[in-house]
Amino acid sequence: MMILVTGGAGYIGSHTVLALLDAGYQVLVLDNLANSSREAIHRVEQISGAEVAFVEGDVRDRALLGQLFADYDFSAVMHFAGLKAVGESVEKPLMYFDNNVGGSIHLLEAMKVAGVKRFVFSSSATVYGEPAEMPISERCPTARPTNPYGLSKLMVEQVMQELSVAEPDWQMAALRYFNPVGAHESGLIGEDPSDIPNNLVPYISKVAIGELVQLSVFGDDYNTPDGTGVRDYIHVLDLAQGHVDALRYLEKEAGLHVWNLGTGNGYSVLEMVAAFEVASGQAVPYQIVPRRAGDIATCYADSHKAATELGWRAERDLNAMMTDTWRWQSNNPKGYRG
Ligand code: NAD
Ligand code: WQD
Repeated sequence: MMILVTGGAGYIGSHTVLALLDAGYQVLVLDNLANSSREAIHRVEQISGAEVAFVEGDVRDRALLGQLFADYDFSAVMHFAGLKAVGESVEKPLMYFDNNVGGSIHLLEAMKVAGVKRFVFSSSATVYGEPAEMPISERCPTARPTNPYGLSKLMVEQVMQELSVAEPDWQMAALRYFNPVGAHESGLIGEDPSDIPNNLVPYISKVAIGELVQLSVFGDDYNTPDGTGVRDYIHVLDLAQGHVDALRYLEKEAGLHVWNLGTGNGYSVLEMVAAFEVASGQAVPYQIVPRRAGDIATCYADSHKAATELGWRAERDLNAMMTDTWRWQSNNPKGYRG
C-alpha cells in the first residue's frame, strides 16, 4: 500500500517515513523543501535499504496534487507539511494560515476527488491553549491558542470535524503531539533547524556543539518544582510509531479520531539541561531570563486513550532522547548541509 507523506523530508516526517517502510508500506514524499533537505530522504533510503519516491512541490499546488492522485493509487495521506515557528506566525499570520490551513484544504479536496479518504494530520497540544486540567486528556476542551500557528492547527481540526459530520465514511486522525525530541539511533537523521532554534532541545544541542554561546532559560518563577517550565518530551521514534498505529486503526474504523501522543511525564527546563549534560558529557551554560510571551507553566499528556485504543505507548526514556539527539548533532554538526 502506497502512502502519500506530505512534509516527509522534515524532522517528524522523515522518521515516520522510516517507520512506515519498516511496517511494509510504500511511500511517496511530497515536500517543497521550505524547511528541509533532499538529503534527509537519501539518508532514510540508506537506513532502510528501500527506495522512497520523492516529488519536490507544494501542497497548495492543486494541479500537482491532481496529477499525483491520478498517477498513484494512494491508500492514505499523512500530512506533516506546514510551517511551525510560533514567533514567525505572529509576524506573518497570512503566510501561516495560507500554508497550514489552505494547504490542508487543498489536500483534502484532492483526496475527495480521488476517492482517498484516509487522513492522518499532525496536530499539536497547542490546541488545548491554557489547559483547564493536567494531565491533559482528549476530553479536555480545546481553547483558542495564543498564536496564529496554534490557531492554524485548531482550524484544520475543525475542518476535519465538519468534513467527518458531512461525510462519515472518511477515516481521519488528528494526532496531538506534545514535545517531539531525539533522533534516529543511527545518527543519520534528526532535527535540522535552518535558523536559530526556537525549541529547547535543538537550542541546547547547538550550545553543546559550540555553535551558540549559552541557553536562555525563559523564566524560573513558574509554579513548578524548580520554577522553570515543565513539558512532556517524547522521542520522535515513539511518535513515528504512533502514526503507524493510528493508520492501522483507521484501516478498520471510520470517523474522526483524536489521540494525544505524549509520554505522560513532565520534565523542567533545568532537568532537561542536566539530562543533556549527562548524555553528552558536554557543559550547557545557561542564564535565567524573563518569561517568553505565550508560554504556560506546565503541559503534559494523559496518554491513556492512545494506549487503550491503539496499543501504543512511548517506550524511550529521557536519556535515550538526549543520547540520540547528541549522536545526531555531534555526527552532523552542520546538519544535512555539513
Ligand atoms: P519540519 O519543518 O521539519 O517539517 C515540515 C515539512 O513540511 C518540511 O520538510 C517543509 O519543507 C515541508 N513543507 C512546509 N510547507 C510545505 C508546503 N506548503 N508544501 C510542501 N511541503 C511543505 O517540522 P516537523 O517538526 O517535522 O513538523 C511536522 C508537522 O508536525 C508540522 O505540521 C508541525 O506543525 C507539526 N508539529 C510539530 C511539532 C514540533 O514540535 N516539531 C509539534 C506539534 C506539531
Ligand atoms: C519548551 C520549554 C520554554 C527555548 C512549542 C510550540 C508548540 C509545539 C512544540 C508545534 C518551555 C523553555 C525554550 C529556550 C527555554 N510546536 N525554553 N529556552 O513552547 O512547549 O512548544 O513547540 O506544534 O506549539 O509552542 O516548546 O521547546 O519551545 O519550549 O527556556 O531557548 O523550554 O519556555 O518551558 P513549547 P519549546
